[in-house]
Amino acid sequence: MKTYLVGGAVRDELLGLPVKDRDWVVTGATPEEMRQRGFKQVGADFPVFLHPDTREEYALARTERKQGRGYHGFTVYSAPDVTLEDDLKRRDLTINAMAKTTHGELVDPFGGREDIQTLSLRHVSEAFAEDPLRILRTARFAARLQPLGFTVAEPTMALMRHMVKEGEVEHLVAERVWQEIQRALHENEPGTFFEVLRDCGALTRIVPELDGGDTFSAALSALRCAHHNEGETSTRFAALVSPLTPAEARSRTKKLKAPNDCQDLARLTTSLMPQIRTMTSYRADTLLEVLDEADVWRRAARFTELLKALNCALPDAEQIKLGWLESARHAAMSVQAKELMAQGYKGKELGQAIHKQRLQRISESQQRQ
Ligand code: CTP
Repeated sequence: MKTYLVGGAVRDELLGLPVKDRDWVVTGATPEEMRQRGFKQVGADFPVFLHPDTREEYALARTERKQGRGYHGFTVYSAPDVTLEDDLKRRDLTINAMAKTTHGELVDPFGGREDIQTLSLRHVSEAFAEDPLRILRTARFAARLQPLGFTVAEPTMALMRHMVKEGEVEHLVAERVWQEIQRALHENEPGTFFEVLRDCGALTRIVPELDGGDTFSAALSALRCAHHNEGETSTRFAALVSPLTPAEARSRTKKLKAPNDCQDLARLTTSLMPQIRTMTSYRADTLLEVLDEADVWRRAARFTELLKALNCALPDAEQIKLGWLESARHAAMSVQAKELMAQGYKGKELGQAIHKQRLQRISESQQRQ
């Protein structure tokens, strides 16, 4: 039985990046032997085990062959005669298909080290095409390693284009797509993820609404800003979809099965954008409408995120409007429902009185602007 360090840890070490998780491949062993050595089997589909002390993952060397379409339908074969090279060959990119022996020797049958030197994201073999998720993974690695100068190798781009033409992307389940988008939004250059998807034709299948010249560049510049400001996932996502119409944003985020906070902020940002953009001066009624629609009174934290998304979505010349919203909010917040109740207002009339007084306070605050 032999043990090798594989995948991301070997790649990141060669890149001089911090190593997060260490994954291992074991050859020449059976599940029974692993269990006898105290390893705990996890995962029903693959023979993967946890080390009794380090809790790191040890997988028996395996091959995978595709049977059906999309992400499902792999036949896994694992036995003591599966070699390390067999296991590395089923992997996506050459930079992810290197291993290291316990003595520190590099095992690199597919030229991963050279691709690191030439800054290339290159597929290991035609088996890349068996898993459409790899298109998204490659785009995500491009987004992560872009600052180091990495690009997708032309043959890999050609293969990805071919996979897209064959309709492979349609077979991905929404949850997996979202998982990759979510991770991509936090990579070093999130915009590169969408550029690579656009280049290979996958963007039209995944978020078609973004795939137009002006919309695409507006989306990317808003996303760049949200990334620069270290925004949360929901803020980054809302910035990305900010050039879409509210209806487009709503149906796409639903189809993508984005989490509720992302759907919610995307909906709010896109629905308020037109109102804010058409407002040309400090108008108390429009400002209160926006504050009401954002339900700032009960959703203060969400409002803060909304301002961050709008900050990235609005052109520079319109940034002043965010200051107006803040002042209006501050003024309106000074209205005390309790005081109005003490004056005898209740029910519907109380609501109307609060609204009227908020409007008045916002108007007064305008005079102080
Ligand atoms: N892998 C693959 N195809 C996939 C998913 C994973 O070939 N669809 C392989 C890659 O060789 C990868 C390894 O499995 O290196 C482990 O995958 P994962 O843990 O998802 O990624 P890492 O490469 O470790 O990258 P990250 O730093 O993002 O965790």
